[in-house]
Amino acid sequence: VSFVGLANLLPPLSFVRLRTGLLRLAGLRSGDRTAFGGRVRITGRGLRPASRISVGDNCWINDSCTFDASATITIGNGTAFGHEVALITSTHDVGSHFYRAGTSADLPIVIGDGAWIGARAMVLPGVTVGAGSIVAAGSVVNRDIAPDVLAAGVPAKVIRRLDGCGRDGP
Ligand SMILES: CC(C)(COP(=O)(O)OP(=O)(O)OC[C@H]1O[C@@H](n2cnc3c(N)ncnc32)[C@H](O)[C@@H]1OP(=O)(O)O)[C@@H](O)C(=O)NCCC(=O)NCCS
Repeated sequence: VSFVGLANLLPPLSFVRLRTGLLRLAGLRSGDRTAFGGRVRITGRGLRPASRISVGDNCWINDSCTFDASATITIGNGTAFGHEVALITSTHDVGSHFYRAGTSADLPIVIGDGAWIGARAMVLPGVTVGAGSIVAAGSVVNRDIAPDVLAAGVPAKVIRRLDGCGRDGP
C-alpha cells in the first residue's frame, strides 16, 4: 500500500497530523500548520507524482480533493480548499477524428498566497490563481485569475474585486 493509500484509510477530519505526515512521506512538500482534512487523490505521470506538489504554511485542504500532478502544483501560504476541489495539470492537443485526445501536454498550476478555492471547483492546466482571490464553489477555472478578486462560474469570470494589501486593505 502506498503512503497516500495509507493516509486515505484514515477517517476524514481526524488524524490530521498523521495524514499530513504520510503525505509528506509520499513526497508532497507541505509547510508549518498545513493540514489535509480528509482523503486526497493524487494522480500523474511517474512513480511519485506527489513530489510535484508543494503546499505552503498555514493551509487547509478539505476532504476528497484531487491533485493531478503530471506537472508541478504550487500552492501558496494561507490557502484554503473546499471539498472535492480538483487541480488538473494534464491535457491533450486536439487530435484527429479517430482519437480527439491527441498529443499529451502537462502544464503547471499555481495557487497564490491566501487564496480560497470553493468546493468542487476545478482548476485546469496552466492556470495561476492570484494571491488573495476566491474561486466560488463549482467554478471551472480555464484562464489565470488576477489577485484579490472573486471569480465564479463556468468558465470562471471575475464577479468583483476584493480588498487587498497595497490597495484597500491593511
Ligand atoms: C463565492 C461565495 C463565497 C459567495 O461570496 P459573496 O461575496 O457572498 O457573493 P454573493 O453570494 O453576493 O454572490 C455574488 C455573485 O456571484 C454569484 N455566485 C456566488 N457563488 C457562485 C458560484 N458558486 N457559482 C456561480 N456564481 C456564483 C452570485 O449568484 C452573485 O451573482 P449576481 O450578482 O448575478 O446575483 C460562495 O457563493 C461560495 O462559493 N462559497 C464556497 C463554499 C465552499 O466551498 N465551502 C467549502 C468549505 S471551504
